[in-house]
Amino acid sequence: MLENLHKLRDKALHALESITDSEELENWRIEHLGRKSELSQILRNLGQLSPEERPAVGQLANEVKLALEAAYDDKAKVLKREELERALREQRIDVTLPGRPVSLGRLHLTTQTLREIYAIFGQMGFQVYESPDVETDELNFGLLNMPPHHPARDMWDTFWISDEVLLRTHTSPGQIRVMRERYPEPIRVILPGKCYRYEQVTARSEHQFYQVEGLAVGHAITLTDLIGTLTEFARRLYGPQRRIRIRGSYFPFTEPSIEADMDCILCGGEGCRVCRYSGWLEVCGAGMVHPVVLQNGGYDPDEWSGFAFGLGVERPAMVKYNIDDIRLFYGNDLRFLRQF
Ligand code: FA5
Repeated sequence: MLENLHKLRDKALHALESITDSEELENWRIEHLGRKSELSQILRNLGQLSPEERPAVGQLANEVKLALEAAYDDKAKVLKREELERALREQRIDVTLPGRPVSLGRLHLTTQTLREIYAIFGQMGFQVYESPDVETDELNFGLLNMPPHHPARDMWDTFWISDEVLLRTHTSPGQIRVMRERYPEPIRVILPGKCYRYEQVTARSEHQFYQVEGLAVGHAITLTDLIGTLTEFARRLYGPQRRIRIRGSYFPFTEPSIEADMDCILCGGEGCRVCRYSGWLEVCGAGMVHPVVLQNGGYDPDEWSGFAFGLGVERPAMVKYNIDDIRLFYGNDLRFLRQF
């Protein structure tokens, strides 16, 4: 039995020498030190030996076990170091290789245009005020001087959510919200946001698009202030030589109402496809805030006056970048979006 143990130890130590990785080492441990190993069986069966044999065999078996465990630990340390060295050698990062390019996002053309508009009006002292996309009939129409059944409501085809709730057709309901919040302060704000219209989608019209509303309320604000503000805006966005033309128009919430055009930036007024050979491009609808609207916002029209305007966002960008179809904005075609 003692000889058997010596052999077993020598065989195990010999096998250990040729091991080169930790998987083989684990197999070795299971074979020579595991619960089913010969050594474990000898230790388990010591009780069956004769009392004369037992002490010597027991002592040697324990010595063999300690020797194998110590050899295992040493080998494990060596392998670990070798594996680390190998990994460092083989998986070394080659810092001279070109990196993986990080794909950069960019701002959508609409966002860029909105920010340009914010910056221009910001310089003129206008604050940005946001109001909700989901509006009530009362704010979108009623308080803007269009009671139920008023024919002017037909100017805006509407997505209704219920009889009283709708997706705003324009940013004008924000006028009432900001007036009610700011009264009795004077106001100079722009109200950007998405508008929704139950309209046929064409190269010039989307059913969702952005507007920027402008509102100034104060003492002795006049139509000249409005025209000056719009002229300055057009010149800052499209260049200092721009000219503005004012036409009479109609909106129920402004009196008088106007439509502002500027000379076509492509042909300079000669007439081209973009301006439909008129020489002029529409900038916005605008006017002096109607006395009823001022009153609905809490401002006494005998003391206060104001102007308002509503600009599209995509259409000015289309003019600036010569884009001939508004559907490209939200078609999610990266080839289009990456150009800006
Ligand atoms: C209005 O929405 C008024 N609320 C503007 C206003 C505000 C007048 C304050 C007076 C005082 P209008 O429906 O014309 O007006 O729309 C204004 C701008 O929104 C248009 O000039 C155009 O640039 C843009 N717009 C309107 N409908 C669409 C559409 N379907 N797709 C893209 N842009 C549109």
